Amino acid sequence: MTKTLVIQPVSRIEGHAKVTIQLDEAGNVQDTRVNVIELRGFEKFCVGRPVEEMPRIVTRICGVCPWSHHLASSKACDAVFGVEPPPTGRKLRELCNSVAYMEEHILHFFILAGADFVMGPDADPATRNIIGIIGKYPDVATRVVKVRHMCAKMLEVLAGKAIHPDASVPGGFSKPLLAPERDQLRKMADECLELAKFAIDFAKKNIFPQYLDVVKSLGVIETGFLGTVKDDGALDLYDGKLRLMSKDGTFADFPYDKYTDYISEHIEPWSYLKFPYDKRAGKFSMELDSPNGIYRTNTLARINVCDFIDTPLAQAELEEFRNNFGRPAQLTLLYHWARLIELLYNAENAIRLLDDPKITNFETRRKVEPRAAHGIGCVEAPRGTLIHDYTTDANGILTDVNLIVGTTHNNAPINMSVKQAAKAVIKDGRYDQGILNRVEMAIRAYDPCLSCATHKFDGTLAVRIDIYNHDGRLIDSMAN
Ligand code: MG
Ligand code: NI
Repeated sequence: MTKTLVIQPVSRIEGHAKVTIQLDEAGNVQDTRVNVIELRGFEKFCVGRPVEEMPRIVTRICGVCPWSHHLASSKACDAVFGVEPPPTGRKLRELCNSVAYMEEHILHFFILAGADFVMGPDADPATRNIIGIIGKYPDVATRVVKVRHMCAKMLEVLAGKAIHPDASVPGGFSKPLLAPERDQLRKMADECLELAKFAIDFAKKNIFPQYLDVVKSLGVIETGFLGTVKDDGALDLYDGKLRLMSKDGTFADFPYDKYTDYISEHIEPWSYLKFPYDKRAGKFSMELDSPNGIYRTNTLARINVCDFIDTPLAQAELEEFRNNFGRPAQLTLLYHWARLIELLYNAENAIRLLDDPKITNFETRRKVEPRAAHGIGCVEAPRGTLIHDYTTDANGILTDVNLIVGTTHNNAPINMSVKQAAKAVIKDGRYDQGILNRVEMAIRAYDPCLSCATHKFDGTLAVRIDIYNHDGRLIDSMAN
């Protein structure tokens, strides 16, 4: 008898997903699928709206990633209106980005993913969560919650509000930073840096050495990588050129508004998520034994594609990481390690920006006029390269919207890592809570945000109805 295992909902990720694992008669994994059971559809219903409303509308795509959409959208609007924000407007946007990153990376490492390592993959699900961590390391948990709250506070000072922001506007940033506010933020940024230093030391002592065998075996696939770098090859999370690296480490650099020359989107009838792939490969395949065109984004990708990091502490960590795992590093669970290097970079970068005397200049935005245009904006969201692509008519009304979201790039890799993990841990029909949790761990490494990623909608619903007779034989199947 064949059997289907269902993990639903996948826990400790952003959004709703289920995993189905099909076992063969011997109880080994035949196939797996990651189903995302929600639809946001912003690409469709934003058409017909004035483009300048987009930076405010897109923050509603997701309560976790509003800043990334807010900034990518503002940049797409800059391009549509043909303006470049003044240096201070740009710096304020970048500062908000770094603070939002810290909040996100702290959330993911300690609150969503950390329990698998701190409590252990096989721990009782009742304690394999933030409550368990609070019990085991109360001081760490208190500090984590405090600094996360502080990041939200910093965003409030910078932009008026932390969630669903509206301060970034076409042409710049609407709220100049006052000197007393800067001084207040500077103290908070020091505390963020101390936590970032603590987090990577803690993980290098208490987590990674203990789980090296899991890191080396779970969710392992080999792919290319996509991320953003400055002209000199340094890591950049707000602006720069895109770098698409092949799995052998060779790469191509291109401006982000040329993304369609390099990236295509494959569509599967069973998913609201598209499957972007490297167009140069010709054909898309996410078969484990013959993948084609697959690349990954998010922390590990950015740490792989950059030549260096231009802040000293993060650069020292990058060197140690590369000495251990090479470039490009492929092991999926290393996403966590790369995330902590980025946490450190963002703390250093926030301090650098706050120490820049220009940050309190009053010229933060330029005036814009509607026109018929096509504009593309791109930032590195915590969860991967985020592209907003808008077309407007002469009145500035949107006629076309395409979003390529960080998690969407990782759709095929997540499906592949889940299949690899399931095949590795489920053998001869034997599985338990801990084993199924290992399959979820392969997903969690990617820190997916599924609310953000589900925009494919062509008028048909990704629904299939299977009809089975009384003895379990499939007798009919209907799909649109
Ligand atoms: Mg899209
Ligand atoms: Ni999101």
